[in-house]
Amino acid sequence: MKLDTKLIHGGPLLDEYTGSSSIPIYQASTFHQAHFTEPQEFTYTRFGNPTRKALEETIACLECGEYGFAFSSGMAAISAVLLNFSMGDHVILCKDIYGGTYQLVTELFPKYGIEYSFVDETNLSSWEEAIKENTRGIYIETPSNPLLTITDIRGVVQLAKLHKIMTIIDNTFMTPIYQNPIKLGVDIVIHSATKFINGHSDVTAGLIVTSDEVIADTLYKTQKMMGSMLDPYNCWLVLRGIKTMNVRMEKEVENADFIAKELQKHRKVKAVYYPSLANHIGKEVHFSQASSGGAVLTFDLGNYENVKDFFANVKIPIVAVSLGGVESILSYPFTMSHAVIPEKERLDLGVTDGLIRLSCGIEDKYDLLNDLVNALDHVKAEPHYGERIL
Ligand SMILES: Cc1ncc(COP(=O)(O)O)c(C=O)c1O
Repeated sequence: MKLDTKLIHGGPLLDEYTGSSSIPIYQASTFHQAHFTEPQEFTYTRFGNPTRKALEETIACLECGEYGFAFSSGMAAISAVLLNFSMGDHVILCKDIYGGTYQLVTELFPKYGIEYSFVDETNLSSWEEAIKENTRGIYIETPSNPLLTITDIRGVVQLAKLHKIMTIIDNTFMTPIYQNPIKLGVDIVIHSATKFINGHSDVTAGLIVTSDEVIADTLYKTQKMMGSMLDPYNCWLVLRGIKTMNVRMEKEVENADFIAKELQKHRKVKAVYYPSLANHIGKEVHFSQASSGGAVLTFDLGNYENVKDFFANVKIPIVAVSLGGVESILSYPFTMSHAVIPEKERLDLGVTDGLIRLSCGIEDKYDLLNDLVNALDHVKAEPHYGERIL
């Protein structure tokens, strides 16, 4: 089945009881048990719900895995995985990482006696050097947030398998459309479905896929015990979003590719980070494991003053902490997504006060470019970074 067909028919499309063309929202907390001593599939929504089951089957199919799980947010999904490590375990993570994951690791791991190391994800030998006797997990985000750095998934998986270490990836930026880590040997794939998968900035949700039965068992129990599952209404919304994910993303990626290349030429833009750009570090590795640069790019205006002038004049994109909606979204990682990382570490990571992240929506790309260029015209400083004046 080709991708466009899979997005519609990969998971359950019709309600098996009524034939309804949309899986209904089974808005029930509990289910009547005709034979109270006999097991039945659905008993209580925290344990399982038909709308959630449809979403979980759909995401498992899209990620080419066996088992899917739907959580109340991306962070609920990430917690369900990371908090299953035990006292004395060691986990290695990429240093350029979503701020919420950084906070979870640095604040909660010590409480549970779980050790961690952050490594330069772009360098395979730094993953290898960080492996210890007690390393049980490797956690990747590629392309990363916000600098779009690239990790060699196959290389890391090979190392992990050699040392019997579990691999986990946050695949939010690529979506199952452009990167299928399970096919590359990764054990657990996580998504913030709040972003491109739902795609309309109206839901928070997290999804996990694995093909490993033991891991699936643990995740099911964790979801049930922590009660962090996604509710039926939001499952329905995510299922609805998935159907149009490819048509949305084709346009969003086209816009991002166009904007990244144009901004790179602008004299007031110091740098642009986007995997499809010819000078992006790791571009070759990225395109050996993914089929698109994605819809998110980050650019550098050099300092806070320039960012302030720019934000004051931009009209089309909204300014918000999220990404992956049909509307373009600008965000300022320094005080938004990465604010929880101590300033010195943030700066060491390259998350400086001049960085702006843009998640491209489905607007007309020339309207979007003109709006950004107009806002750049209002940036008072007159640096000359680019090759030509737009
Ligand atoms: C890459 C990435 N992973 C995880 C998350 C967390 O997802 P949520 O906000 O749905 O909890 C985010 C949120 O911005 C993110 O960008």
